[in-house]
Amino acid sequence: MKIFIDTADVGEISEAAGLGLLDGVTTNPTLIARTGRPMREVLTEICALVPGPVSGEVLSTTYDEMLKEARELAAIADNIVVKIPLIADGLRVVRTLTEAGIKTNVTLCFSPLQAALAAKAGATYISPFVGRLDDVGHEGMDVVDQILEIYDHYDFDTQVLVASVRSPGHVLHAMRMGAHVATLPLKVIHQLIKHPLTDVGLERFLADAAKIAKPK
Ligand code: E4P
Repeated sequence: MKIFIDTADVGEISEAAGLGLLDGVTTNPTLIARTGRPMREVLTEICALVPGPVSGEVLSTTYDEMLKEARELAAIADNIVVKIPLIADGLRVVRTLTEAGIKTNVTLCFSPLQAALAAKAGATYISPFVGRLDDVGHEGMDVVDQILEIYDHYDFDTQVLVASVRSPGHVLHAMRMGAHVATLPLKVIHQLIKHPLTDVGLERFLADAAKIAKPK
């Protein structure tokens, strides 16, 4: 499974890239707003930092406006993926962009049927928001499971990008289900690495290493 980082913070992206495990980046308008910088400037910097796919989202909601924005975003760098909301005009834009060879990430997906339509439109990635589903009492990962089942039946090329990830549990489920990608906040990436028994074990080994007799 590919690991993306879900942030527009260049410092966090550099840190994750330094681990040598980062396959790509997702941003959204909220994450870009947190940087206090213009979107184009931030995306240009991220695309230069990470060779993998970098998602940047359109800010409008009509076909013509989204298409114009998508083309401007795609011109930033070869590794830009244009994020389009899962609305009727959005699906039309995805079809047009796919035919033009521009990669898309269909965002704000909350049901397997929405995901099926995005795949039929030719989306490169579909982003089910599992954490936000959990927040309203649904099982976000069940939606991922159903999307994978549907995609498998019909042999769609669209990759399932598990988004709105809140915990290592989401990542474990995503990997066991065979999701193609998960996009993680830096905090969750750190949580994946850390285990208290690793820390205790290492401390003990180092203490014992200090007692090993040195050759005379
Ligand atoms: C994904 O592309 C979105 O940017 C993100 O995962 C949303 O996560 P949130 O629900 O924690 O805001």
